[in-house]
Amino acid sequence: MRTSPPSTSTPTAAQALPTSWPYADSARRYGTVSRVFHWTMALGFAVVFSAAVAHYFAKDGAIDEQLWPWHKPFGALLMLLVVLRAAWALLHANQRPPHISRAAHFGHLALYAMMVAVPFLGLLRQYAQGRAFAPFGIPLMRARPDDKIDWAIALGNLLHGEIGWVLLACVAGHIFMALWHRRSAHENVLPRMIGK
Ligand code: HEM
Ligand code: HEM
Repeated sequence: MRTSPPSTSTPTAAQALPTSWPYADSARRYGTVSRVFHWTMALGFAVVFSAAVAHYFAKDGAIDEQLWPWHKPFGALLMLLVVLRAAWALLHANQRPPHISRAAHFGHLALYAMMVAVPFLGLLRQYAQGRAFAPFGIPLMRARPDDKIDWAIALGNLLHGEIGWVLLACVAGHIFMALWHRRSAHENVLPRMIGK
């Protein structure tokens, strides 16, 4: 009985494509897009938090004067980036590395919730105060001196800084856990975000 010979036909266009786009996430690692979001935003948070810490502990000191002008523009940029990053994460939710525990999953969700809430409350209060705002020279809000929104100012005053400090504490915990997990080969997640 004859067996059919191995197929020598030319692959279709779909077969010729790599199985996954190289910039996308996979079950083993975060892809280039996720990594660029993660590390650019980490740098942005370093600027915003350094400014907040200097402002809180040494208001009007030399470091505060250098850093504080960058707090709002970088905060606004982070607001834009987190929306794009969350959309990317949702679109690729079923092809990302699995969470190593429910605690890790919940921790990442909490980071996202605060990454949205904190700059949103800052921008909401900025708008409610009726002051012009042009981060990096881009006119985002025009001045409306006679149109203040008291409840939104109060909400920002109450929560922006407070949730901001909680976010800083959670980021510290996140970094600690990422390094702590390096002790176990099974839980070593750092290569997912930096390795090949
Ligand atoms: C992810 C981005 C942001 C983070 C993590 C953040 C974090 C913080 C923190 C922790 C403080 C407390 C500092 C203190 O008590 O002196 C603070 C204060 C402040 N932030 Fe932000 N912020 C962000 C974005 C923004 C944005 C977008 C604006 C406005 C456009 C803004 C405006 C302010 C102002 C005016 C203060 C001083 C008054 C206050 O204590 O609430 N922030 N921020
Ligand atoms: C030195 C600083 C940092 C290190 C070493 C680090 C490390 C990591 C690692 C290893 C992962 C993968 C975890 C896993 O797959 O289970 C991860 C994911 C993540 N990290 Fe960080 N991280 C840092 C800073 C930050 C900062 C500042 C934020 C946010 C404020 C952040 C938010 C996240 C989030 C939300 C994820 C989940 C994946 C995603 O959707 O991007 N990280 N990080």
